[in-house]
Amino acid sequence: RAVGVVLAGGQGTRVGLRLPKQLLKVAGKPLLEHTLEVFETSPDIDEIIVLMAPGWTEDAEKIIQNAGFRKVTRVLEGGETRNDTTRRALEAVGPDEAKVLFHDAVRPLLDHRIIADCVKALDTFAAVDVAIPSADTIVVVDDGLITDIPSRARLRRGQTPQAFRLSTIRRAYEVAADDPNFAATDDCAVVLRYLPEVPITVVEGSERNMKVTYPIDVFLADQLFRLGSHTPPSPVPTEHAGELLAGKTLVVFGG
Ligand code: CTP
Repeated sequence: RAVGVVLAGGQGTRVGLRLPKQLLKVAGKPLLEHTLEVFETSPDIDEIIVLMAPGWTEDAEKIIQNAGFRKVTRVLEGGETRNDTTRRALEAVGPDEAKVLFHDAVRPLLDHRIIADCVKALDTFAAVDVAIPSADTIVVVDDGLITDIPSRARLRRGQTPQAFRLSTIRRAYEVAADDPNFAATDDCAVVLRYLPEVPITVVEGSERNMKVTYPIDVFLADQLFRLGSHTPPSPVPTEHAGELLAGKTLVVFGG
């Protein structure tokens, strides 16, 4: 059994609207609906649980009903922090072992390949992260000064889903509950910190699987939906490469 847990418990303060950003309409549908649609239509997902921002569960239920999503079994209120929301999901999943995929509701451009790779990786590993290489150099800053510039080859940008065998992520949160200094972090970091013996494998994410965090991301997500493909643009065909270099063609999208 594979369960998609859609984390929509946040308020989206950095986007700065009255309603939580997961309810914002992009390309004709709320972000939450786009995200749920990907899980609903994935052949690898059996059940979906939605954790919604407190006070907005009815809005989520309406979206689910109108879209006719049949795999959604529960819509619950999220917690104060993302970790609290994850904990509530863990209580709701039920006792039987399962594969659980935690996904940010505000990453609506997820694709079936990523879900399939996560579910498959859980046959071998108990914990899976999704990540992409970093085009930018990442610098470590302490008190306003750079203290480290880690080699870019080793760095990845973490996305979601983060996927686990249910018993593993439950155990990690049980150990974490005994730590008075527990600091909010993502779910793979909870496993890394509290179950260091559990290897976490990495599945390749995609540039499209971006997180809507700031106002500009709403625009970017809209443009990506307009491009209309769940695959990244093809490389520039070689016959056009000269034009590109000569500055005649800015961007060539294949397909
Ligand atoms: N999330 C959640 N429960 C929380 C906080 C966040 O389920 N208590 C979810 C958000 O709804 C989002 C995902 O976690 O889908 C990623 O979090 P983030 O982008 O930080 O969302 P917000 O907390 O809503 O944004 P902000 O920090 O700007 O308020």
